[in-house]
Amino acid sequence: MKFKKKILGIGAGYVGAPSMVMIASKCPDYKVTVVDINPERIAAWNSDRLPVYEPGLDAIVRKTRGRNLFFSTDVEAQIQENDIIFVCVNTPTKTFGAGAGMAADLQYWEKTARQILENSKTSKIVIEKSTLPIKTAQAMERILSSGKKNVSFDVLSNPEFMAEGTAVNDLENPDRVLIGSRETKSGLAARAALVEIYTRWLPREKIITSNIWSAELSKLVANAFLAQRVSSINSISALCEKADADISEVAHAVGTDSRIGAKFLKAGIGFGGSCFKKDILNLVYLCRFYGLPEVAAYWESVVRINEYQQDRFIANILRSMFNTLAGKKICVLGFAFKADTGDTRESPAIHITRKLLAEHAEVVISDPQALANAAADLAHEKGKISYVEDPYRAAAGCHALAVMTDWEAYRKLDYRKIYKSMVKPAFLFDGRNIVDHRKCFEIGFNVFPIGKPALTRF
Ligand code: UDX
Repeated sequence: MKFKKKILGIGAGYVGAPSMVMIASKCPDYKVTVVDINPERIAAWNSDRLPVYEPGLDAIVRKTRGRNLFFSTDVEAQIQENDIIFVCVNTPTKTFGAGAGMAADLQYWEKTARQILENSKTSKIVIEKSTLPIKTAQAMERILSSGKKNVSFDVLSNPEFMAEGTAVNDLENPDRVLIGSRETKSGLAARAALVEIYTRWLPREKIITSNIWSAELSKLVANAFLAQRVSSINSISALCEKADADISEVAHAVGTDSRIGAKFLKAGIGFGGSCFKKDILNLVYLCRFYGLPEVAAYWESVVRINEYQQDRFIANILRSMFNTLAGKKICVLGFAFKADTGDTRESPAIHITRKLLAEHAEVVISDPQALANAAADLAHEKGKISYVEDPYRAAAGCHALAVMTDWEAYRKLDYRKIYKSMVKPAFLFDGRNIVDHRKCFEIGFNVFPIGKPALTRF
């Protein structure tokens, strides 16, 4: 079959692969290839068990794979063959050198830029999809323009706003798609080529075009604003617990103001995931770099409140369970950073489990999707940890339940049955406010929600 366009995605992770899968599904006349240097990951994308759990994604992969969607490890050959290249490699927070713990680690990104330069025999459009510090496009342009004169590159910024667990719907029906480019003749032509891809399934009004720096910065700012809402409501949850107010009632009353809006106002144990903390720290680093310490401090406080919320949760467990956890068995219900994903990156459950182990508690971890990642995260921890997928078996013989992930299944568990199998007095710490607190109290639990009065018999 002769394809109308050939598109390449470099990086088969949580962002790159689903984005490319959606393009393949919506544009059957385009050939879409996804490459990654990790052969196991590519093998998994070519198998029946995909490397990421994302509701609805399997069905689309089954429909498109081998037809116009291909997964490969041959990065160099694919660069040669494709004219439109999405760069979706990971950009984790730097763990070494200048900006360690804050700035983005761009080594994979720069390696990719050089690979594109070395393997390009024709001109190409290179699209940044990974979240990057602003002005990365400029560095990308500089690397790409250091080569042969007869090959030219247009760099675009097309940040991805999809969230994990809802990737399919977010990609199919995004609030908006953002495309930034240079405002030169060839930059605008490249922009138009990318707009054309998205208009295959989206109305033109949903596609925002801008200059390239605005596009890069908007991604960081969108994540910072979302995380800031979570930290704002979590900070108020601490006050609610002191003032006998109920955080759900406050969030509802505040969120019904149409200027504020109801979303992202759920109090809990804090945000996790690969983006929020990384992007805010990135923003903080940029502000410091540009000599804006006040702005940096403002955004840094969003991360501080997130840490405070997790420490508060642990302190509450310790205090409520008579100031000792040594030898007690705690069942951690949920390890993923949110429901409907197996991803545990920056999950609050990691920090909280470590603290439980430091108190010499025995921890039983349960999760429907994230146990393999949990075991990898905790591989070097000392102490007693076990992994039990079935929540009833996990809770049996425990002194306390700590709900860490908002899995729908945890709302509907038979808490009476669980209560019967636990050591008494039994404690329930609901880090996501998803359990029916009154009912669990009536069953016999001592219940500690977030941002609401505790229901206890002491
Ligand atoms: C986020 C952004 O939403 C997405 O646009 C961007 O592309 C990537 O980062 P994601 O990390 O997948 O997506 O998850 P998201 O749904 O935003 O949740 C982030 C964290 O905040 C989770 O730990 C979640 O549990 C928490 N959260 C979210 C709350 O605690 N309360 C809320 O009200 C909302």
